[in-house]
Amino acid sequence: MRQAGRYLEEYRAIRARASLLEICHRPELAAQVTLQPVERLDVDAAIVFADILLPFEPLGLGLSFQAGEGPAIAHPIRTPDHVARLRELEPATDLGHVLETVRLAARELAGRVPVIGFAGAPFTLASYAIEGGASRHFVETKRLMYAQPDAWHDLLGRFATMVGRYLAAQAAAGAAALQLFDSWVGCLSPDDYRRYVLPHSTTALALAASAGVPVIHFGTGTATLLHLMAEAGGDVIGVDWRIPLDQAWRRFPDRAVQGNLDPVALLAPPGELARRVDDVLARAGGRPGHVFNLGHGILPQTDPDQVRAVVDRVHERSVARV
Ligand code: CP3
Repeated sequence: MRQAGRYLEEYRAIRARASLLEICHRPELAAQVTLQPVERLDVDAAIVFADILLPFEPLGLGLSFQAGEGPAIAHPIRTPDHVARLRELEPATDLGHVLETVRLAARELAGRVPVIGFAGAPFTLASYAIEGGASRHFVETKRLMYAQPDAWHDLLGRFATMVGRYLAAQAAAGAAALQLFDSWVGCLSPDDYRRYVLPHSTTALALAASAGVPVIHFGTGTATLLHLMAEAGGDVIGVDWRIPLDQAWRRFPDRAVQGNLDPVALLAPPGELARRVDDVLARAGGRPGHVFNLGHGILPQTDPDQVRAVVDRVHERSVARV
């Protein structure tokens, strides 16, 4: 999950001087931000400071982030012709800034905590590329999927190879684990997931797995899709809070599970927050293979002390079992 960001004063101080994209293009700065949550929160891993949409820059889609409005893509992909004209990325050169951030962060954190590399899953990336930004009903995405299935599979196939190779390159640069974010895949039915997404996530996850580090496969709103996500791949399946952790885990008993505190629980009074943390831990039942995490990204209005309290509580309640 996102763990750096605007809820941290030390991040806002850097953001006051540089835009999100500028930070991502300056590996020393991005590595510094990657380390912030480790210092402040004592978390057990750092996630590299980057964004799933960064590959859109070298693809020439015209990526920008508008204050308060999220990402904007100036040249969305809408036709088979747009898809056919997409170039192939070379991670080492086209996304060398991210690989350098991974290298620097891994070097600085060596002997302390691992660095997690990440990329967007083919479906979630396609949804941004097609819609041109965030979406509520994914109308244009589904329009292309249903009306132009050849173009759809062409696009997802290209994105699958792109992110699979990009993830493997992050592992080669020092990432000790990789996460594939399919944040918006929960808008699909199981049938559509199987037909339009599963083959491509499978490709991306297999390329990532070839790097030899653990791979986390994450989505939100996926209660009806979890067995299919596990079929696509991933050593760890990440789940949001809409499904109780124990129920989710039963759907993929041969994998590890990551999750699943509601990020809004961090805004609850301390007693209520603690109760919810304990509930997640109780549902994991101390079984090996649970990675405690939020069910989705942290919100800007979160109090960092509440986050630290969660980390400390999880540590207290897990150490006895190590
Ligand atoms: O240190 C870290 O936590 C890693 C950094 C990270 C960012 N984006 C930086 C960022 C990670 C892991 C991401 C992943 C990401 N980006 C996802 C997948 C995870 C998820 O939350 O579902 C998605 C869907 C995106 C796309 C994206 N980036 C959106 C929709 C937005 C705007 C939303 C908002 O909160 O404004 C972003 C911007 C963004 N990327 C921010 C950060 C810290 C916040 C904006 C800022 O600092 O200006």
